[in-house]
Amino acid sequence: MSNPSLLILAGDGIGPEVMDEVKRIISWFGDKRDLTFDVSEDLVGGAAYDAHGVPLHDDTMAKAQAVDAVLLGAVGGPKYDDLDFSVKPERGLLRLRKEMDLFANLRPAQCFDALADFSSLKKDIVSGLDIMIVRELTSGVYFGEPRGIHIEDNMRVGVNTQRYTEAEIERAARAAFDLARKRNNKVCSMEKANVMESGILWRDVVNEVHQADYADVALSHMYADNGAMQLVRAPKQFDVILTDNLFGDILSDCAAMLTGSLGMLPSASLGLPMANGRPKAMYEPVHGSAPDITGQGKANPIACILSFAMALRYSFDEGAEADRLEAAIEKVLADGARTGDLMGPEGGTPLSTTQMGDVILEALDASL
Ligand code: IPM
Ligand code: MG
Repeated sequence: MSNPSLLILAGDGIGPEVMDEVKRIISWFGDKRDLTFDVSEDLVGGAAYDAHGVPLHDDTMAKAQAVDAVLLGAVGGPKYDDLDFSVKPERGLLRLRKEMDLFANLRPAQCFDALADFSSLKKDIVSGLDIMIVRELTSGVYFGEPRGIHIEDNMRVGVNTQRYTEAEIERAARAAFDLARKRNNKVCSMEKANVMESGILWRDVVNEVHQADYADVALSHMYADNGAMQLVRAPKQFDVILTDNLFGDILSDCAAMLTGSLGMLPSASLGLPMANGRPKAMYEPVHGSAPDITGQGKANPIACILSFAMALRYSFDEGAEADRLEAAIEKVLADGARTGDLMGPEGGTPLSTTQMGDVILEALDASL
């Protein structure tokens, strides 16, 4: 049998730096766990624009469709701020999500014990936090038509469309319910059914799917604005949060910050099963390209490494190896390993990106 294949798209900013550490982790699994991946690399975002004049080359898109999983670093940066909208680095990412049909975006927000003090919230509100946001990723206002800027009565008008079909809502809901069953069996669905028809439909379809096939899962609904408030008031009331593309973008940044640092949070974007049974999949850290610290060896590689752990779990059915990697990260954090983003008021010398990779590899060795 051939090895599972990975396409690495490190992208822009700190993307390549954090991805370098992921590559070392991938090699470790090949050397020590007999889990070898065929790894190829290509460009996305501003890096692709610099080389090809587009944020994602068609050949790269084809490669992404052909591999078992894509690992993405980050896209964007100030250098590309003035580019035409159609070739902005973010368009490369959105094209991957859309064409691979990665409708279920899983964004866990987990507070590591060792980092509970870093949250902007009080420790007892976040310690032990473990929630999962399931964000619909291929539709809604990100892709709805009509869209654009046009002139009406001598005035510019900007238009975007929030649009959801029942099928799109249904498949996102199923992903959330299936996940909840493997966790604490609770789903809270968030929309704005009080002001948006698409929100009314969202709520109806979620209820229908629930009644038909998931009555064993506890389901509640919340308006998304209340959801944002509840996330900072009492985040531990949630298990799985199901929401649309735009609300999910916002709520997941909010949930991420509860955990103390954006540098800690991974994500998985999953689509339909491929011929080999594995889901179409892309894994990426929730953080962005962080131009302010690019090239200085300061970036925290943990979110990107945890994204690879999600790949082990969701694409390759290697849950035990994912646990091993997550435990290694928990161990180094408990031992006090900190990159700059995790430095508390007590100070100290932060680890560089590579040094954080070193200690995680040591912890992996120690786990054997
Ligand atoms: C995210 C990001 C993206 C989004 C950007 C980079 C297009 O904020 O993945 O949350 O808005 O979806
Ligand atoms: Mg975002």
